[in-house]
Amino acid sequence: MSNDYYKKISLFGESLLKAMVSLTQLVKIHMDNNDVLKDAVQNFIQLVEKSGQGTADISIHLMWGLFYFQEEKLHLRPANTRIFNHLMQFIENRGIYGFHIQSRLKDVPFRKIVMFFRLLNQAKNNEDPSTWLTIKLEENNLNWVSVVLSPLSQAGVTFPTSDEISRRDELEMKKAQVRKSYSYLLGAVQEVAGKVSSNQPAGMRKSVRLVQKMVDLIAEDEPLFLGISTLRIFDDYTFVHSLNVAIISMCLGKRIGLSRNTLERLGLCGLFHDLGKVEIPKQILNKQGMLNEEEHKLIKTHSMHSARLILKLKSKRERRTRILVPPLEHHMGYDHSGYPKVSTGSRISLFGRILTIADVYDAITSPRIYRPSAMSPDKALSHMTSQSGTHFDPILLKVFANMVGVCPIGTLLKLDTGETGIVMKPSKSDDPKRPIAQLIIQGAKQTYEKGVIVDLSEKDSETGAYRRSILERMHPSSMRIQAASFLV
Ligand SMILES: [Fe+2]
Ligand SMILES: [Fe+2]
Repeated sequence: MSNDYYKKISLFGESLLKAMVSLTQLVKIHMDNNDVLKDAVQNFIQLVEKSGQGTADISIHLMWGLFYFQEEKLHLRPANTRIFNHLMQFIENRGIYGFHIQSRLKDVPFRKIVMFFRLLNQAKNNEDPSTWLTIKLEENNLNWVSVVLSPLSQAGVTFPTSDEISRRDELEMKKAQVRKSYSYLLGAVQEVAGKVSSNQPAGMRKSVRLVQKMVDLIAEDEPLFLGISTLRIFDDYTFVHSLNVAIISMCLGKRIGLSRNTLERLGLCGLFHDLGKVEIPKQILNKQGMLNEEEHKLIKTHSMHSARLILKLKSKRERRTRILVPPLEHHMGYDHSGYPKVSTGSRISLFGRILTIADVYDAITSPRIYRPSAMSPDKALSHMTSQSGTHFDPILLKVFANMVGVCPIGTLLKLDTGETGIVMKPSKSDDPKRPIAQLIIQGAKQTYEKGVIVDLSEKDSETGAYRRSILERMHPSSMRIQAASFLV
């Protein structure tokens, strides 16, 4: 499958999902003769016709927490997270798994298209929404569209029965769960930040539930989470960063044996550690070039704001107060040489010390608008080691270094075979310099595709020499690669 084809499909898929979400909302507030609604239907028709060129119908399927458009997986990007989450829940609430839409809609009357979206909305109020919907589509002769009622054969993919599930399928399923939790949680943080910045009451029930789920998943497969925490996005930096800090902190917390409940609290601290950034003007947060003194001062107030805003969240007082101090402390430094200069006790709290490590690691390995190339994970680690005992708790930093290893997950590798790979998991052998890597191969027009997965500790059975060795370790951004999309 060429990359151009995939790009085109993704673009159409995303636009179509957006158009459908907007139609489900517009039909709630407009009568059939409304111009905005007419334009939205027109846009929908055009998108369907363009994306269905050459095929009789187009398919949208929800499977394992992912959307498939024309049987191609649509990738999760922060820019589409909200739409995906919204539509996913919308579809799940109606007990359906997607749609088949006839690709020629020109002759379908406008009112029959609007009617479908009205019925979709109404279906939720029925006991058995999917059956009700199917009957209504038939009754009203809406044969331009059908709903997918089962996740099985109609999706064009055969699901294995439980005893047929191979290890590979299990891994794919786990990856889908990880992606789903990541995307839901990203949406939850964005929602809280959005409400807080517009002075609306914001609760954290959803975040708590999602963090609990994440703790369970991390217990099952830590490398997958460290893999997805390599997601780097410029325009949504703060939210992606907050989520990454939460994940890295929870993984570190797990390493030092924290209990499940404690990990949940730590995760929430990570999620909200930079909440105070909603008070800092975007021009300053994303400023290219040096900040002046005033701007620096302003940025440094964000951890105080985080604590203040957490206190304002709608939640049990006890829960709020327990996650308040670590965000306030995350820039203070182990030796208290950072900011703000307020006392939270003679020692920075354990969570505060963990957040400091996770925060710096994610920040310096993230390319930013004003700094397109970032430190490679291994360089970041040695940079941080130079501040062991000053900015970082030396013992925790050692545990962290052990956790991410000499070749941290997400590091881009140049191999002596001329191949390129991304570190996927720590080594199976005892040699930390020989991790398991996902090879990537060059596709068309400087894009990359997944190759095979290789174990760098593998030796040639005849010569006894290693099959592959690392020549160079780099940051994925040096090749404009998003590590997370190759790992999870
Ligand atoms: Fe911060
Ligand atoms: Fe941060």
